[in-house]
Amino acid sequence: QRHLISAADLTRDDAIRILDTAEEMSRVADRPIKKLPTLRGRTIVNLFFEDSTRTRISFEAAEKRLSADVINFSAKGSSVSKGESLKDTAQTLEAMGVDAVVIRHGASGAPYRLANSGWIDAAVVNAGDGTHQHPTQALLDAFTMRRRLVGRDAGLGQDLDGRRITIVGDILHSRVARSNVDLLHTLGAEVTLVAPPTLLPVGIESWPCEISYDLDATLPKSDAVMMLRVQRERMNAAFFPTEREYSRRYGLDGERMARMPEHSIVMHPGPMVRGMEITAEVADSDRCTAIEQVANGVSIRMAVLYLLLGGAVFETKNVPDTLQ
Ligand code: CP
Repeated sequence: QRHLISAADLTRDDAIRILDTAEEMSRVADRPIKKLPTLRGRTIVNLFFEDSTRTRISFEAAEKRLSADVINFSAKGSSVSKGESLKDTAQTLEAMGVDAVVIRHGASGAPYRLANSGWIDAAVVNAGDGTHQHPTQALLDAFTMRRRLVGRDAGLGQDLDGRRITIVGDILHSRVARSNVDLLHTLGAEVTLVAPPTLLPVGIESWPCEISYDLDATLPKSDAVMMLRVQRERMNAAFFPTEREYSRRYGLDGERMARMPEHSIVMHPGPMVRGMEITAEVADSDRCTAIEQVANGVSIRMAVLYLLLGGAVFETKNVPDTLQ
């Protein structure tokens, strides 16, 4: 099957092939005409059932740079609001001759279901499903880390062996954290999660990473620190930590950033809530790669679409918990 559903499905070789291809793709952005003819005549639909700024625009930019025909579908304003199912929506798109479907959905497992249902023949790319996975985010994060911590040219063919990555915040609701832990482990990095105990998922002990409740102790040992937004929209208000208390214990401000090694970087997948998990001083500092991550996302998505529509196979071996 030609799909990308989970970062856990990628072997080390798959991941490095995508990262190296993305380095090639990134050169297109430096040209006066930012386009390759590679996917001319192919149609890709961006099927977004959940809000997005970065991922939606980034996929669209990637598809257009590869000369694909692009159809943007947002559940808001579509017949989904009249009760139409994912199956009927997908088959409607299939009837229009779509080669790939990029899907974001609030339900964990929706892209897996679409890819394995037999409803459509198109390649499926997961652009974020519930609290489950966001594989292209993990890939663009790994790409950013490799460039910054190993080097742009020196990084080609390389993984992140021994690099120490700290992910801080709302791990419980974060598909970004889950995808990053999976991919970073595959790439040889050592991952530590820092979060309040109430924002860690059940079964976290089986994840391939360390857990800490002490951000200040973890920062001096980190090559990259990834800050996550607290996802109020997926949370019962009664369990929501106060902003003041959360920021005091788990927020990154200038004073805390000064404890990090000089070479280390601050990452954020966005959207950022300034004043909550990250101060404006840190978000706007040279060490914060949030905007660089967005730019790198276009190269990663070009690489994924180029490889998948060129026939690459990333085995879908990890079934989301919700569908087991
Ligand atoms: N990082 C990320 O997925 O951002 P969006 O929700 O804006 O796409």
